[in-house]
Amino acid sequence: MKLAVVRQYRAAGAKKYQSPNMGGDMKNNRLCGLLGIEHPIIQAGMVWVSDWRLALAASEAGALGTIGAGSMTVEQAVENIRKAQEATAKPFAVNIPMLRPDAAQVGAAAMEAGAKIFITSAGNPAKIVPLIKRPDNILIHVVPSVKGAIKAEAEGVDAVICEGYEAGGHNSPFETATLPLVPQVADAVKIPVVAAGGIADGRGIAAVMALGADGAQLGTRFIATAECPAHENYKKLIVDSLDFDTCIIGRKLNMLRVIRNEFAKRMEEAEKKGATEEELFKIIGSEFNRNRAASWEGDIEEGAFQAGQSSGLVRDVPTVAELVGRLVAEYDAAVGSLKKMG
Ligand SMILES: Cc1cc2nc3c(=O)[nH]c(=O)nc-3n(C[C@H](O)[C@H](O)[C@H](O)COP(=O)(O)O)c2cc1C
Repeated sequence: MKLAVVRQYRAAGAKKYQSPNMGGDMKNNRLCGLLGIEHPIIQAGMVWVSDWRLALAASEAGALGTIGAGSMTVEQAVENIRKAQEATAKPFAVNIPMLRPDAAQVGAAAMEAGAKIFITSAGNPAKIVPLIKRPDNILIHVVPSVKGAIKAEAEGVDAVICEGYEAGGHNSPFETATLPLVPQVADAVKIPVVAAGGIADGRGIAAVMALGADGAQLGTRFIATAECPAHENYKKLIVDSLDFDTCIIGRKLNMLRVIRNEFAKRMEEAEKKGATEEELFKIIGSEFNRNRAASWEGDIEEGAFQAGQSSGLVRDVPTVAELVGRLVAEYDAAVGSLKKMG
């Protein structure tokens, strides 16, 4: 899409945009209406660590829980959907990264199993839009840019999640941070906008809603919860991390934000020295799965612990219900203190 078109959308958006959420009631906004949830908070879909148990806890707490199907076989995804359906009548989502060659197959199986809310990411949703778009389904796409948001809206998605560079997991080579990204996307599209990347408390949610978002997606924060199936070492690493303890690895491959450990340091060093893709793949190795090593085995030095810069804000491992209650209270307090300033 040409830049001129982006500018045109931006200009139109800028006129209509009047920070609709700032100071308002966190509940009952248009994202809540669209998804049928109580709080405009999405528990992010995350490979290896967000199965039906975490999604269930988040949905039961009034947020939108998400099953991260990216690391699941089609059968496992269907099983997770069925278990969530049996355990709750509340809405939940299924996250399908488009870089999966069989993304459409996962989508079809999830639909067949009765999933209603789909979150696509890491690629163009075009190939899945005709399949998923049914009157009673909702499709949300994750974007790293204004251009991506405009394109997704034009393709017919119901909402976008704009994810900044602070986020844990795969990152966009654009490297745009959440603070400048959210208002630009909010100015550019009419559909609801969810902010992601770097948000771990109610202050962060208030901040992105002041920037024009209709809600927030949190990933890293939800890993450090009682219901998350991640290994205890993963949760402890996040709790122990400080503001500077994550890094980006694999800029030449598929960039990933992880907690800096021995494996990540080797990657960083090699990348500083200009390692080739082949050399980087050699460091990653094919002998074992570093995501599994982190998430399920808790291999502190050799696992790939995907986590965001918000790790520094995470200081405990509450239940999901405690966390969601706290996020709402913190949001109210943040908005209240801003009102006093005004
Ligand atoms: C362990 C981990 C795995 C992730 N896997 C996925 C995924 O499969 N699909 C996806 O769309 N995003 C994935 N993400 C990104 C999250 O959905 C979310 O947007 C991000 O975590 C938000 O930033 P935060 O970590 O600062 O909260 C992952 C993030 C983490 C931390």
